[in-house]
Amino acid sequence: MTGMDAEISFEARAYQACISGLKRQWSGPLYRQVVDLAGTNCDAKGIEQNLRKDSRYQVFGWLEHYLQQFKYLGRWGMLTEFTPQEEKLAKLLADAAAIEPDRLDLDPDMALPDYFCVGDFHQHPGGIWSDAHDAFAYEWGATLTTPMSADHGDLHDRFAGLVNEMAAPENILDQACGFGKTTLALKSLLPDARVTGSDVAGPCLMLGHKRAVEAGLDIRFVQCPVEDLRFDDSSFDAVTGSMLLHEMPPSAIRASLIEARRVLKPGGLYAQLDFYDVPGGEVGRFFHNGHSARNREPYMMSLIKMDLAGELEAAGFEDVAIVPFEEGAGALDNGPDLPHQWRFPWTLITGRAKP
Ligand SMILES: C[S@@+](CC[C@H](N)C(=O)[O-])C[C@H]1O[C@@H](n2cnc3c(N)ncnc32)[C@H](O)[C@@H]1O
Repeated sequence: MTGMDAEISFEARAYQACISGLKRQWSGPLYRQVVDLAGTNCDAKGIEQNLRKDSRYQVFGWLEHYLQQFKYLGRWGMLTEFTPQEEKLAKLLADAAAIEPDRLDLDPDMALPDYFCVGDFHQHPGGIWSDAHDAFAYEWGATLTTPMSADHGDLHDRFAGLVNEMAAPENILDQACGFGKTTLALKSLLPDARVTGSDVAGPCLMLGHKRAVEAGLDIRFVQCPVEDLRFDDSSFDAVTGSMLLHEMPPSAIRASLIEARRVLKPGGLYAQLDFYDVPGGEVGRFFHNGHSARNREPYMMSLIKMDLAGELEAAGFEDVAIVPFEEGAGALDNGPDLPHQWRFPWTLITGRAKP
């Protein structure tokens, strides 16, 4: 169970289960009603006109915005529950950091990217970079990210499986690893590979280190931004990332591609799992952009407008492929048409470092 080191009251568990139930209603039956109302063959303006005054659309938007806020800040929200436990949680991370200390390389002087600090990404108040309780809340919150998928963890395992099939890498950098979901999946699958996770958020790296130590996995965690990786040229044969690109403005994505190319060996695999190819044409984009605005994910919108294939090629990659990626067990309709349920447009983006 995630958040297992923090105390979670019965009330908080029940409250979060209610929020999940409501998210299922929002992403299923309610979504289908508003999609029907949106109409076909309209541009974004026409869709908005069709929906604007309808109370079902208003409730849809309200739930999309506020359920996420309630998740963190409500009476039994995750931060309400974990903030008073900061001292205990910080000690847990510090104690874990003392085990295999060589595997955790934090940089207290590292400057956080400006865009990273300005807003509360996906409405996590105060961000995930400063306190221990934020990392634990983020870990717990991640279990509710995809309300329609029965097994979110499956996503990271399948991504790791694809990376293995494509490259069987021996030395992997999982960038922007958070608390290590993909990183741990990679190391579990490839026990002989050297696996490194990097991120800007110190507490998340400490939690990833703790989880790796608990799982008996030898993973190195290094604090650095993807635009300025603290690794030598040509040092990895795969650079991976999950759910990173939609958190960065285009200029930062470009800089990160150049850095990824620099640290990859020629022929090395670049693989990102993110939200890019939005199914369902204009209606799909309308709801995707609406989610971006209502859930404070400002760069989701700019990402889908980017020519990622062209950017990768310009940064020195070849064999670029951009394909849909199935959400997971129980997910529906992973094709070019509008999905039957609201879902993130998971996309697998890969390329090879040009020799
Ligand atoms: C949505 S989380 C995904 C975490 C992890 N990859 C996963 O799949 O669970 C995005 C992560 O990107 C990190 N991040 C955002 N901008 C970054 C940057 N410029 N450099 C490094 N990490 C960054 C955040 O700290 C956060 O941990």
